[in-house]
Amino acid sequence: MYKPGNVLMVCLGNICRSPLAQGVFQNMSKEYNIKVDSAGIANYHTGHPPDKRSIYVAQKNGIDISKQKARQFKVEDFKIFQYIFVMDKQNFFSLKKLCETYQTNSLIQLLNKPYEIEDPYYGDDKSFEIAYNKIYQGCKRVLSSWR
Ligand code: 4NP
Repeated sequence: MYKPGNVLMVCLGNICRSPLAQGVFQNMSKEYNIKVDSAGIANYHTGHPPDKRSIYVAQKNGIDISKQKARQFKVEDFKIFQYIFVMDKQNFFSLKKLCETYQTNSLIQLLNKPYEIEDPYYGDDKSFEIAYNKIYQGCKRVLSSWR
């Protein structure tokens, strides 16, 4: 991971973790002329704004993610994004499965490698704080590999 490139953050629903990851990475990577987006493996929440608890934890850290809209991952994303960062192993295997029938050079990797970022959806505010901190660490990890 030596070269800056377009980044797609992926989780299951695209309403809790990956919108936060998009916001944090956009905020940290302003020096680069890259595209940063997020998507979900599932389509349950297409068109929805992020979960209120994600909006809140982002806002506490000076980041506005309230205008984001959830969307589902599509194979065309493999052409646009050189880096696809996933939150957990389930996301990882879902994308690897798509690669069995779709050729891509995109790097698919756990954002906070080697750790997973657990789904906070059924948790409490503390679960969102934990997810935020792990996302922040993961974004730092990626950026430090580019510098
Ligand atoms: P996310 O969390 O993958 O971090 O966006 C989830 C949000 C919603 C659901 C699952 C995970 N859901 O089952 O609706």
